[in-house]
Amino acid sequence: MTHFLDIHKTDAAALRGMIDSAQAMKTARAGRPKGAPDDEQPLKGRMVALIFEKPSTRTRISFDVGVRQMGGQTMVLSGADMQLGHGETIADTARVLSRYVDLIMIRTFEEQTLLEMAEYADVPVINGLTNRTHPCQIMADVMTYEEHRGNIAGKKVVWSGDGNNVFASFAHAAGQFGFDLTFTGPETLDPEKAWLDYAASKGRPITVERDPHKAVQGADLVVTDTWVSMHDPQSARERRHNQLRGYQVNAQLMAKAKEDALFMHCLPAHRDDEVTSEVMDGPHSVIFDEAENRLHAQKAVMRWCLGL
Ligand code: CP
Ligand code: NVA
Repeated sequence: MTHFLDIHKTDAAALRGMIDSAQAMKTARAGRPKGAPDDEQPLKGRMVALIFEKPSTRTRISFDVGVRQMGGQTMVLSGADMQLGHGETIADTARVLSRYVDLIMIRTFEEQTLLEMAEYADVPVINGLTNRTHPCQIMADVMTYEEHRGNIAGKKVVWSGDGNNVFASFAHAAGQFGFDLTFTGPETLDPEKAWLDYAASKGRPITVERDPHKAVQGADLVVTDTWVSMHDPQSARERRHNQLRGYQVNAQLMAKAKEDALFMHCLPAHRDDEVTSEVMDGPHSVIFDEAENRLHAQKAVMRWCLGL
């Protein structure tokens, strides 16, 4: 079964193929209405289940629109409305869903839920974010970097803030796409050691630099994300804000990066917390291209999963 569970679990050549296919699909439908079908309809007759145990705007809509553009049909399901949210096991849910649908995308809390879904499903499963990783986002980010600046290999990417699930997928991508990743944030919110070890094992050791102004020097790409993720307790909000305040991406920080550096954020953003509106809406920012590219990148991921 060809699941898309994480960037470090997917063959590097396959990842490269997906980025190229995403760009080709984007180019092929340029200028068309959003609801217009693609010329190719590889998902014709296919049914896709999109399961959400957490809120979502981009993931929900981009997967839904992407399936429809490729001729397939979707079912958007909330975990709480399914028996899954009322005690039915993940394994039984996976086996039942496999009798109805051709592909499952799930956004959930514990990584274990995703892994069990993949283990027991007879159809491909795609990770739409867990507490630990967010691979679809980083496929879109790599695509976005490359459409603006060419191959990401050898470039300097700097992450400022929380060492969270989105950072984790960047660490995996550093290993698979061959770029240099620097983490700058407080020690208390460091990324998991496993992710640092992974990147190092692929010959791309991650630099950890506590001073954000030193970290971004010479950066080709600066990235941040919310200071409080969906799985973080709200009670931790104030403490996290206090720890992360010094890592805000603002004009002073961006000025230390390369002149043509890009700025990315997976969104949703908390304007003037982790990033200022000036940077979000400024000349370095490609955040809305990034959001659009979720659509194209995930279409490529789905085709790869289904071998279409
Ligand atoms: N970036 C992202 O995954 O956004 P949503 O939470 O809106 O899906
Ligand atoms: N780190 C964020 C990403 C949201 C798309 C979260 O997990 O809430």
